[in-house]
Amino acid sequence: MQKANKASAHLNRRTFVKTTFAAGAGLALGPQALFGHSASEEKVRMAFIGVGGRGRSHMKNILNRSDILVPAICDPDPSAIDQALKLISKAGYEKPETYTESEFSYLKLLEREDIDAVVISTPWLWHTRMTVDAMKAGKYAGVEVSAANTIEECWDMVNTHEETGVHTMILENVCYRRDVMAVLNMVRQDVFGELVHARCGYRHDLRGVKFNPGVEFGEGSLGEARWRTQHSLHRDGDLYPTHGVGPIATMMNINRGNRFESLTTHSTKSRGLHDYIVNHPEGGEAHPNAKLRWELGDVVTTQINTTNGETILVTHDTNLPRPYSLNFEVQGVKGIADFDSHTRRIYIEGTSKPHTWEDMESGWLKKYDHPLWKRFGEYAAGSGHGGMDFFVDHAFVESVKRKVSPPLDVYDAASWSAISPLSEQSIAEGNAIQYFPDFTRGKWINNKALFATQGDEY
Ligand SMILES: NC(=O)c1ccc[n+]([C@@H]2O[C@H](COP(=O)([O-])OP(=O)(O)OC[C@H]3O[C@@H](n4cnc5c(N)ncnc54)[C@H](O)[C@@H]3O)[C@@H](O)[C@H]2O)c1
Repeated sequence: MQKANKASAHLNRRTFVKTTFAAGAGLALGPQALFGHSASEEKVRMAFIGVGGRGRSHMKNILNRSDILVPAICDPDPSAIDQALKLISKAGYEKPETYTESEFSYLKLLEREDIDAVVISTPWLWHTRMTVDAMKAGKYAGVEVSAANTIEECWDMVNTHEETGVHTMILENVCYRRDVMAVLNMVRQDVFGELVHARCGYRHDLRGVKFNPGVEFGEGSLGEARWRTQHSLHRDGDLYPTHGVGPIATMMNINRGNRFESLTTHSTKSRGLHDYIVNHPEGGEAHPNAKLRWELGDVVTTQINTTNGETILVTHDTNLPRPYSLNFEVQGVKGIADFDSHTRRIYIEGTSKPHTWEDMESGWLKKYDHPLWKRFGEYAAGSGHGGMDFFVDHAFVESVKRKVSPPLDVYDAASWSAISPLSEQSIAEGNAIQYFPDFTRGKWINNKALFATQGDEY
């Protein structure tokens, strides 16, 4: 550890030079000004486990800050490591220690004493294991979505957090989408009245991701096709619920005065992936992958009941040709919002013309723009996914820095991720009702809202 500490001291000096120069050069809106950070303050020491597409995107955002150090990164894929090192060097940081030998090298990284937090952006089946090991090693864990694949894994995360007192944040970026946060503001300011129903989902044509290149997947293929596609082959359920459900959970105060109680799930036949293989110029009827039987239904719909009497309709739809949609709708006793990436409309009784949708762009989004977006929006714009990625990384780093519970915590990670195994079980039992464990062990009754409650801080 001696060597690492020396490296950190050197890096501190380098970073000091870097930030002082930036300020001297008169950058109007640099990270230093935004985070109000002085060069003499202690840095947050961030490590990265998994530096593929998503890991590097987190890394880019975090490297833009002046209050961090990156002592170590880990990935068994040399090309991912090379690309990550380039980003780090380009940002003016010292070369970090790399952990590349095997899939378990992350355990060595976690032994280091000069790391405060890890960002975990690995394939799904590694998430819980790495999160639990990070908490046991005393490191804040920021884990990509979904955080867990089984109910047992959900409990493992919660139990480890409670045993160690170390925090986990589920890095659900969509909670920070600008229109989502504006609607959250409207919910909190009672624009819709008491909530009754919501709709959301992940409706994304992933065929070109599940097969890459051509109709190939698994070993030797590219990107997520190396690991994600196997889940469609073997599992039928909502495999990716949190982009839709995370935002709705914050609006409905799940685990904070309310909780997910039960669900039932229906799944259609599976046609999309087979047809894609057969019709692809590099596939065809004779291709070996055309013989596969895909478990995942093309459209999987789940109805969730909450203890406060709302329902949430969640759709998972990744195998058919269609434009991207998270399919949001939020409905209360006074009105309704229906908002997607391109269409945003609202109807509020007494304000809107009777029985007529209003465009949310006509003042609603501006009026209810969240303070975080007002402060950081311009800076966030280049950070990925329309800016929301900046906020999720910002919230994670700020929580680590302040040593406080992150705004999307281990209980959120567990209850949102639990939708996958519960939906699989429901389908397997002929759409039978499944009950969510109470991961908070009763604390949901008195817990207060946490997400986006720190004004324009994080
Ligand atoms: N929130 C979002 O918008 C968003 C977007 C894309 C991906 N994701 C999520 O991020 C995660 C990663 O996805 P991706 O697109 O970067 O996939 P990817 O395949 O591009 O990258 C995964 C990386 O993890 C590495 N890895 C695999 N096993 C490892 C191990 N044992 N130790 C260390 N590294 C290991 C791989 O070598 C690879 O570089 C997934 O959970 C995915 O669902 C989220």
